[in-house]
Amino acid sequence: MRFSVAMPEDLLVRFDQLVARRGLAKNRSEVIRDLVRDALVEEGCATPGVLVMGVLTIVFNHHANDLQEKLHTIQHDYFEHITCATHVHLDQHTCLEVIVLRGEAELVQGIANLILGTKGVKNGRLSLTTTGQGAPWTQR
Ligand code: NI
Repeated sequence: MRFSVAMPEDLLVRFDQLVARRGLAKNRSEVIRDLVRDALVEEGCATPGVLVMGVLTIVFNHHANDLQEKLHTIQHDYFEHITCATHVHLDQHTCLEVIVLRGEAELVQGIANLILGTKGVKNGRLSLTTTGQGAPWTQR
């Protein structure tokens, strides 16, 4: 289905620069579709009851007092919502862990906050996504 959009020239110039940065494989229409899907994903992640995937990345010192045990316990407590976890040893002291979570947005955010709030976790970030296309697993 086609539709046309009126756009101020300065905005269109900046949009074309964005399209160019996305590479040869993307044209205006494809970038607009990507942006619409991004907006739907963002809206979905902010909607109570919608199922989301969360990717939580944390960095911590593995020498910190019983930190690994605490992180392990949280992940067992919520095993139904932890899809997988990968541990990377960054150097002799520092660990990176990537934890993939699945569940309602509020619960996933809550589990992430528990992990991020554990003493000894130096920093971390949660990224949420849905498919943005109303697939069965994105809706209750
Ligand atoms: Ni490690």
